[in-house]
Amino acid sequence: MIVANWKMNGSKKLIIEWLDLVSKNIEINQTKKCIFCPPNSYLDFTGTLLKESYKDIRLGAQQCDSELSSPLTGGTNSQMLVDIGCEFVIIGHSEQRIRLKESNQILADKLKNSIRMNLKPIFCIGESLQQKKNNQTKDILIEQLDALSGNLVSECILAYEPVWAIGTGENAEISYIEEIHAFIKEQLVNKTSSKNYISVLYGGSVNLHNCKEIYSSDNVDGLLIGGASLVADTFTKIYNMS
Ligand code: PGA
Repeated sequence: MIVANWKMNGSKKLIIEWLDLVSKNIEINQTKKCIFCPPNSYLDFTGTLLKESYKDIRLGAQQCDSELSSPLTGGTNSQMLVDIGCEFVIIGHSEQRIRLKESNQILADKLKNSIRMNLKPIFCIGESLQQKKNNQTKDILIEQLDALSGNLVSECILAYEPVWAIGTGENAEISYIEEIHAFIKEQLVNKTSSKNYISVLYGGSVNLHNCKEIYSSDNVDGLLIGGASLVADTFTKIYNMS
């Protein structure tokens, strides 16, 4: 699974150009889904385009609100996302966690309601630089995984995104990624009695030069790509090389 997370970038014109180029050049492999997450304001527009012309690319949202029904000005719930064609939603991205001060309870509600609406959550976890320096990485991951109750685990996709690697050009070393992914998988297995395989993606400064090595690790089941996903040619090459 290769996910393009556009964050707060793009326009209708850029989305059309990107979809045209990516869909022409991508060597689509049904076991490696290609997921496009444009900003929420373009989701409906993108959903229509995907349905009509670009069936190999799946739609994901970058965030949703925690409740299905509440008088929340500016809110978008998971039911609305499904209604406009989303199949995936990113939950707990560090940029949202930090800015909105999202608690585990809020994140747990987001996860629960998305799953209820048949929207597959991509649940992001990861430590800050300070936490890494203090050797707190594993404790922090355990704490973040507390938002995932046992019965939700098998319905989620996880994404390990060390905060210090996001948008910095400094991806984690492959040995570190392998160690942490193995640790996350161990925690997930302990949380659930389900035998379903739970994918763990890596995100944080993935680019054309490091994607192959990172994706080739047995413990890495996909990539969550921010900056390098914005240019169609780069994203296509990453998809095809991985
Ligand atoms: P980046 O972002 O690839 O630009 O580091 C990844 C993400 O935030 O999902």
